[in-house]
Amino acid sequence: MNILEIQTIEHDVLVVGAGGAGIRAAIECARLGFNTGIISKSLLGKAHTVMAEGGVAAALGNVDRRDSWKIHFRDTMRGGKFLNQWRMAELHAKQAPARVRELEEWGAVFDRTKDGLISQRNFGGHRYPRLAHVGDRTGLEIIRTLQDFCIHQEIAMHMECTGLDLLIDGGRVAGLVAYWRETGRFVIFKAKAVILATGGGGKAWRVTSNSWEYTGDGLGMAYRAGAELIDMEFTQFHPTGMVWPPSVRGTLVTEGVRGDGGILFNNKNERFMFKYIPKKFASETADTQEEANRWLEGKEGARRPPELLTRDEVARAINREVSEGRGSPHGGVYLDIASVRSPEFIKKKLPSMYHQFKELAELDITQQPMEVGPTLHYFMGGIRVNSDTQETTVRGLFACGECAGGMHGANRLGGNSLSDLLVFGKLAGEGACQYIQKFPGALKVDAGQVNTIIRRATDILNRESGANPFLIQEDLQDVMQKNVGIIRTADELKKALEELKRLNKDASQVKAHASPQFNPGWNAALDLNNLLITAEAVTHAALMREESRGAHTRDDFPDEREEGLQYNVVVRKSWNGGMEAQKIKRDEPPAELSKIAYASLEELEGKGGTAKF
Ligand code: FUM
Repeated sequence: MNILEIQTIEHDVLVVGAGGAGIRAAIECARLGFNTGIISKSLLGKAHTVMAEGGVAAALGNVDRRDSWKIHFRDTMRGGKFLNQWRMAELHAKQAPARVRELEEWGAVFDRTKDGLISQRNFGGHRYPRLAHVGDRTGLEIIRTLQDFCIHQEIAMHMECTGLDLLIDGGRVAGLVAYWRETGRFVIFKAKAVILATGGGGKAWRVTSNSWEYTGDGLGMAYRAGAELIDMEFTQFHPTGMVWPPSVRGTLVTEGVRGDGGILFNNKNERFMFKYIPKKFASETADTQEEANRWLEGKEGARRPPELLTRDEVARAINREVSEGRGSPHGGVYLDIASVRSPEFIKKKLPSMYHQFKELAELDITQQPMEVGPTLHYFMGGIRVNSDTQETTVRGLFACGECAGGMHGANRLGGNSLSDLLVFGKLAGEGACQYIQKFPGALKVDAGQVNTIIRRATDILNRESGANPFLIQEDLQDVMQKNVGIIRTADELKKALEELKRLNKDASQVKAHASPQFNPGWNAALDLNNLLITAEAVTHAALMREESRGAHTRDDFPDEREEGLQYNVVVRKSWNGGMEAQKIKRDEPPAELSKIAYASLEELEGKGGTAKF
């Protein structure tokens, strides 16, 4: 194909993905005076950002004045089992409050305290009420605000346009080839820098809170372009997704329910989370040893309920209750807010949950408990980036939000995803613009690369016969759900790798029928390669990490190992085209940050709540 015949659009910066991270990055680029475009596979505002319902974490100190960036940083490192990139966790904790206030200036309408400040609620692993929220629709309000703001910033919005692969010129990113979902026509985007903000790849699992867009597109594109993926073994199973009816299994039930007092119990009416409080956690988070003891003895009245342990702990506990026969009729456990809060409170603070259960499950949560179980929600791992600039290991390629790895370590605290996308969206925008200022020269689009990308896409339509893309995706979801779930073993992970080999083979001969216009079969076939790369990267990394840490639980290596803190697992394309996983040594943490992360609360806060350092 003569590339002069292909539509070409040129920007300084091209942002791929129109969720919170992508829009925030684009706003920054436009603010700095660069010609910026966003491509979105879906429609503007239709993003997984809305699935962070319960709030955005930022140490504003509005509800408890003892909160500070240091405590937020400490909680984040502890929640991530100290595997987080230190600098990212520092930048995040320091900058989150400014990003939330900025959103308010741009029109976000947060719930208020009695004094008129932005209200903050409790969430798992956060020592103080820290989640600024808008009922249980925080992500939605954030996306709405960013969207309203961005459309006045002269940012070109290209909707229903899916990226296929990056273009490289002399080791630098030169743009990307994409296609319009409506017409099936190809388009070349020329750009001096590309920012990937494509979210995770939850659609490789059967039970997930992710919607159809989350097929690991950014992970796949970056990997094929030579970038590294980091911490891919850490996939977050949110403890509470709907389990019934089957058509909505996996749909998120916000942690805000537990943050506002909801309790979990099993089919024996037992408030089982008391059994799962790790000793370490109790003494670290209770205000006094007495409170920790009370907690460990299973007595109520501690300041922080055990339902607000971190997500990895709660998801594992639910999994165990169900597998040992103490689950609810549909394979979950019960979550009860009705006996804790009044119907008025529930309808005011959790309106989406009220409507979601009423409409989808014919259940009134102001009167009855919900049935809930773990659902694949978020990738802690992702594209490896420089902490300050968000540049990947490929020059001119940046990544932010869920598709970038490192910030959350082995487990993410709820609400830290929204603050992450705001903080690192802005930094990615700044990083990309600084990069262009340094390398302003024009880049060439290579016709050979364009033709290879287009041929790979059109082969799917042109071959006589081949495997059905939907069946391959379903098969993949079963493989991952069964073998790369909450609890993992070497045997299962190896089995998954074998199955993935078979699926990769099928996918290389996938067939979609009819023309490229409005063709869901072709669209699904094009997503498959990214999904398979994502699944394989998670599985390789999970096999390499022989310990249990955070969201990665190995039945055959049930404990955290000292050695596990010394490395991150990185996955990349090897010289022979296969995938290789490697342990890379972690840098020593900066002394000041290490002191904060490992400090006791008394050391950090002082007796009267005054920070000591
Ligand atoms: O439960 C929730 O509202 C999800 C929040 C998050 O993933 O950060």
